[in-house]
Amino acid sequence: MMSDLLNLSQISPVKPLLGRTRWVMGNWKMNPLTVQDAVMLAQGCQQRYAQCVETYPQCRVGIAPGPLHLVSVAQALGHLPMDLIAQDVACHSMATGAFTGDISAPQLHAAGVRWVLVGHSERRLVHGEHSSVLEAKLQAAIRAGLGVILCVGEQLHERENGQAQVVVLAQLAAHLSSLQALSTAQVLIAYEPVWAIGTGETASPGDANVMHGIIRDYLTVQVPHLSQVSILYGGSVKADNAAALAACTDIDGVLVGGAALESGTFGPIIEAFATAMV
Ligand code: PGA
Repeated sequence: MMSDLLNLSQISPVKPLLGRTRWVMGNWKMNPLTVQDAVMLAQGCQQRYAQCVETYPQCRVGIAPGPLHLVSVAQALGHLPMDLIAQDVACHSMATGAFTGDISAPQLHAAGVRWVLVGHSERRLVHGEHSSVLEAKLQAAIRAGLGVILCVGEQLHERENGQAQVVVLAQLAAHLSSLQALSTAQVLIAYEPVWAIGTGETASPGDANVMHGIIRDYLTVQVPHLSQVSILYGGSVKADNAAALAACTDIDGVLVGGAALESGTFGPIIEAFATAMV
């Protein structure tokens, strides 16, 4: 399928223990409908994570409820072992003020949020967010003490034209000076090929691992202190492909959409990444 287009299949079957943190992050997007359902989902995820966290402390889990549900989820779970992620943030550094519809980075921080997604393809493509807006969001988040999950990924026609690597590296290059000022505790990279998001079409573990290696090589040269940053894969990650992804040397975690909407499907993905480290 998609992977045949590239003929890249260098799966590394044995994952050496590199000491990078493993991440399983759920992006709930505009789901679920009610606050009650969001709280129940969060509690279910927390329960699944609690079963792993003591044995595998190097695997961490985050959830990204929608903005309407963030506070209720944070309150219902109390002191979270999971990280709370915001799906978006205002593109300026004001904490409060006349910005209709915005949620500021300091407001998110005050609500207990730890990370914010920046550059998700649904923001780039549906909302037309270009690198200057994304850069402003990144800066605002960092100034407020939030970590940034910087999402990059090519579209199908770009992959078919052999442009995948150029596109992904250009998306990173657009934020190079900010990345140079960040530590590995402040940033995660999520590689999410657009053609694999919500389509059921996953990049093969080999293809994903190759792109992760390219990203890591680029960072190693351009931002050497981020050479060991965690790089997550996203795009139709499911319970049945998580173990193969977790076995790849350069895939440090996953950003999960559809399969994060039930703890019964999210739980096995957590377990796959937690146990892949041993
Ligand atoms: P998906 O979404 O797992 O439903 O493909 C991933 C994402 O958009 O982060």
